[in-house]
Amino acid sequence: MPQKNASGLEGIMAGETALSTVGKEGLDLTYRGYSIRDLAAAASFEEVIYLLLYGSLPARAELDRYRSLLITLRDLPPPLRVILEQLPPTANPVDVLRTGCSALGTLEPEGQDRDAHAIANRLCASFPSMLLYWFHFHRNGRRIETRAEAHPTVADHFLYLLRGEPPSALHARTLDAALILHAEHEFNASTFACRVIISTLSDFYSAVTGGIGALRGPLHGGADEGAMKLLERFSSPDEAEAGVRKMLEKKEKVMGFGHRVYKDGDPRAPIIKGLAGQLAEEAGDRTLFPIAERIESLVFSEKGLYPNIDFYSAVAYHFLGIPTFLFTPLFVISRTSGWAAHILEQRAHNRLIRPLAVYTGPAPRPFPSMEERS
Ligand code: CMC
Repeated sequence: MPQKNASGLEGIMAGETALSTVGKEGLDLTYRGYSIRDLAAAASFEEVIYLLLYGSLPARAELDRYRSLLITLRDLPPPLRVILEQLPPTANPVDVLRTGCSALGTLEPEGQDRDAHAIANRLCASFPSMLLYWFHFHRNGRRIETRAEAHPTVADHFLYLLRGEPPSALHARTLDAALILHAEHEFNASTFACRVIISTLSDFYSAVTGGIGALRGPLHGGADEGAMKLLERFSSPDEAEAGVRKMLEKKEKVMGFGHRVYKDGDPRAPIIKGLAGQLAEEAGDRTLFPIAERIESLVFSEKGLYPNIDFYSAVAYHFLGIPTFLFTPLFVISRTSGWAAHILEQRAHNRLIRPLAVYTGPAPRPFPSMEERS
């Protein structure tokens, strides 16, 4: 019997993975051994999906073939379009993806004709289509074509579908790097949720649907939207400093700061900050980026907390013209690759995930009749 309750499973080794190293002493954040710095600087998101799903980086011809495959998987089946049209315009867009994933699981179920890799590729390719089909249908009354073959990368595809015009090279490259940075992160809450679900021998779509549900919360993937809402409250660094100081005095959490594993800083944060800085410069910004930097230095001096990936992602997405309520869905689009790789890995060495709980309830007692209950 366990003697100790590890609150939030902090510090508990809950399994093995060959996919990434997170917070291991002396080791960078790596995906299958490649440093996140190198991947963000030199790889494309499709190379990273391929690396996570198939175990090695694609050669040039493999990458071309893989991109072509993903393009063919962007179309949405007509019944799914109808479902997306029926969802309310006020729906949380993460719920739209969660519902879309679940619906696709009934239309194109896992089975003999469709294996796990096929579903992983299908979801990676079609999540931007689902999200932006729903978005344009309800915002602009348009049924968009989602294949957009002239835009071969996921980042290009997303920005093209969002804006209806091709993004600049800087914008496409920045989003590409952001997707890479969000792709995989060991046993974070949503990935662990996927592994728990698949460990029961459930299907691929159920695991991803559960992962989306876990990612949605503000302590996890939803923090980028919380960070943006905070940044937008202030019109100058001084105002931001005063406002955040008050929050800290009231013991309120500042979204986009702190991390369960990284106590000396999230290695993804400086990379996304650099990208956000380039976009701020391009936009001639004299307000938002300085506000973000002031909040960063205040939260560090007052609480010793560093920004995590979500804080400057919010700034970068803002300068990419992405509406705040689409930030967390973008995290879903990226993290699907990591979830899929973990689902494959869990299945390959499966054992039901079923921990124990320390019991804190009442001692055994007699069952009272209805008359005896007050
Ligand atoms: N703002 C203010 N105080 C904080 C923050 C924060 N963002 N994060 C932690 N603290 C304080 C917390 O109040 C507590 O203080 P005290 O000991 O005085 O009560 C102490 O630091 C420990 O916090 P905790 O919540 O017990 O730490 P944890 O390891 O359970 O939580 C965390 C990690 C990420 C949930 C937490 O830092 C947090 O809530 N951050 C804000 C949400 C956020 O940015 N989430 C994104 C995480 S990274 C990307 C992802 O995974 O999606």
